[in-house]
Order: sequence, then structure tokens, then C-alpha cells
Amino acid sequence: MLAPIAGFFDSPYRRIARRHGAGLVVTELVSAEGIVRMNRKTAELLRFHPEERPVAIQVFGNRPDLMAEAAAIVEGLGPDFIDVNMGCPARRICNSGSGAALLLDPVMMHDIAAAMVRRVKLPVTAKIRIGWDDERRWYRDGVRALEDAGVAAIFVHGRTRAQQYAGRADWDAIAEIAAMARVPVVGNGDIRSRAEALERMASSGCPAVMIGRGAIGNPWIFSGRVPAFAEVVAQIKEHLDVMLDFYGDRGIVLMRKHIVRYIHAFRGAKHVRRDLVMSEDRAEIHRILDALVESHPDLQRDESVEAPPVEEGEE
Ligand SMILES: Cc1cc2nc3c(=O)[nH]c(=O)nc-3n(C[C@H](O)[C@H](O)[C@H](O)COP(=O)(O)O)c2cc1C
Repeated sequence: MLAPIAGFFDSPYRRIARRHGAGLVVTELVSAEGIVRMNRKTAELLRFHPEERPVAIQVFGNRPDLMAEAAAIVEGLGPDFIDVNMGCPARRICNSGSGAALLLDPVMMHDIAAAMVRRVKLPVTAKIRIGWDDERRWYRDGVRALEDAGVAAIFVHGRTRAQQYAGRADWDAIAEIAAMARVPVVGNGDIRSRAEALERMASSGCPAVMIGRGAIGNPWIFSGRVPAFAEVVAQIKEHLDVMLDFYGDRGIVLMRKHIVRYIHAFRGAKHVRRDLVMSEDRAEIHRILDALVESHPDLQRDESVEAPPVEEGEE
């Protein structure tokens, strides 16, 4: 499955991931308050394409009544299920008692999930971390609370809030949750290839796993195929077109961070990076890419190149 990544996994990329074999996709987190007010920005975050199905809309918030209200509105948009964010480590989100802050309050986890489950017919799921910090890894209480509330599945990122994205995801804790839970548990954290995904599923007992950062600029992670450079270029062009369709002219600028990550592991493409991200013209981007394929038809991906970091704190 494709994990939600705010700022990267929007409707255009989720369609691409599905086509490459992601079994299910989730929107980035959307504020319950924003949903109730429904301004333009929120409406854009909530849009999805039929090709994304099965797709979940992810909601965050701190009040059961408001979360239930948001769930009812979201249900009207016709996603396949509704997910609650209980893992975002960003201070802005946690300070209001939303996201990972809920991991400190299993009763509130229950009350929010239960209010949503009662209000809608669609399945409600939750995405959690394993705790707030090392001293407060309260995942057992949290998982029981969510089950009692009637959630259909639980997505588990195997880090605490204090870890943010540092250290390693604790797959032993994920396996423990998979063994104790009465609902399906989807493991998440640090998966960087299809082979690793299959290994994690086998060793943790999770029926599915989610891939986040490993899928940025690399939708092939879902099939395990290693694309030739020409194929990467074709995918960039197609992605750009879907972005332009979805966002209008803004699509070019929003595509830059994706282009950088599609090509980062191809060392021989480094010299055109600047030109590509400076360009504001679809035809020019095509020309640069086509010239690169022509001059370097056998460019190889170098797996040892570190991916550029993504902005932190957006989860
Ligand atoms: C920039 C960024 C944005 C994220 N946005 C969300 C989000 O909106 N909702 C969510 O549940 N998780 C979000 N996450 C967390 C990922 O879904 C995932 O749990 C985490 O990155 C660990 O998985 P990975 O190692 O496969 O990336 C975000 C992570 C990053 C790095």
C-alpha cells in the first residue's frame, strides 16, 4: 500500500502508484475543521480520481463531535474508507491534541474513532505510531481502544513521536500488534524495496505493509521492476501531464520536487537537474529529458545515492 505523505502523494501521484501496483492509497492528512468549513484548499486535498480506488481519505482532529461531522461530509465524497491520523508528530498538530498527541490518551483515541464509526457506514481505520516516546509506548492500550471503537484496520508506523523519522522503525512492536489485534494490522516504516516489503510481511505477520518515503520518485517499488532510464523519463512526462491536468499551470512548479527524486539516483543526469527545475515550460522539460535520453541512453540507477530528504514534520 502507499502510505500518505503530505506534499508528495497527492491525487496525481496516487494514480501513478496504483497503476504500478500499490494495492491501496490514502490521501494526506486533512483537518476536520477544514472539512466542516470546506475552503478551496481543503476541497483540493479531498479530490481523488476513480483510478485511485481503493482510496481512503485521512482526517485529523481532536474532538469526537467534529471528527464525526467531518467523517459524514467525507463519506458523501465517496471514498472507499476513512482513516484517522493518530501519528503526525508535527508540533502544530500535536499542540492541539491531534495526530500523535492522541497516543497519550487512549480514551480519546476510542472516543474519536467510536464517534466516527457510529456516524458513517464506510469502514473507519486509524494510522498510529507505537507511542509518544520511549517511556510511553502505549500501543497496547491504544490498539485495544481502537478495536473496541470498531475500527476496520490499523496502520502502524513503528516509531514513537519523539523519534520523528530518526532511528529505526520497531518491527518487533509491529509484529506484537499484528499478533494481538483482532483486526488487520498494516505495518509501516523504512521499507525500501519490494523484496523488503515481502520479507516484512512474512516476518511480522502483517497481511499488508505500507511504503512511504521509499515510493517518492520510485513508483516501481511496488512491482520490483528496475526501470530503464527511458522509462523513467516517460514516467516523468506522464506525471507532469497529470499534474497539469489536476493543478493547471501550478502543476509545473509542484512537479519539481518529484523530478529531482525521479532522477536523483541517476548520477549521469545531475548536470540537467538545475535546468529541469528552473523550467516553467512543458515543452522545454520534454526537450531537456529527450536530449538526455539520446546522449545517455544507458544511464544506470546508482542505488547507493541517498535520496534527498523530505521536509520534516508534515506527517
Ligand atoms: C513529509 C512527510 C509527510 C507525511 N505525511 C503524512 C500524512 O499526511 N499522514 C500520515 O498518516 N502519515 C504521513 N507521513 C508518515 C508516513 O505515512 C509514514 O508513516 C512514515 O514516513 C514511515 O514510513 P516510510 O519509512 O515508508 O516513509 C508523512 C511522512 C513524511 C516524511
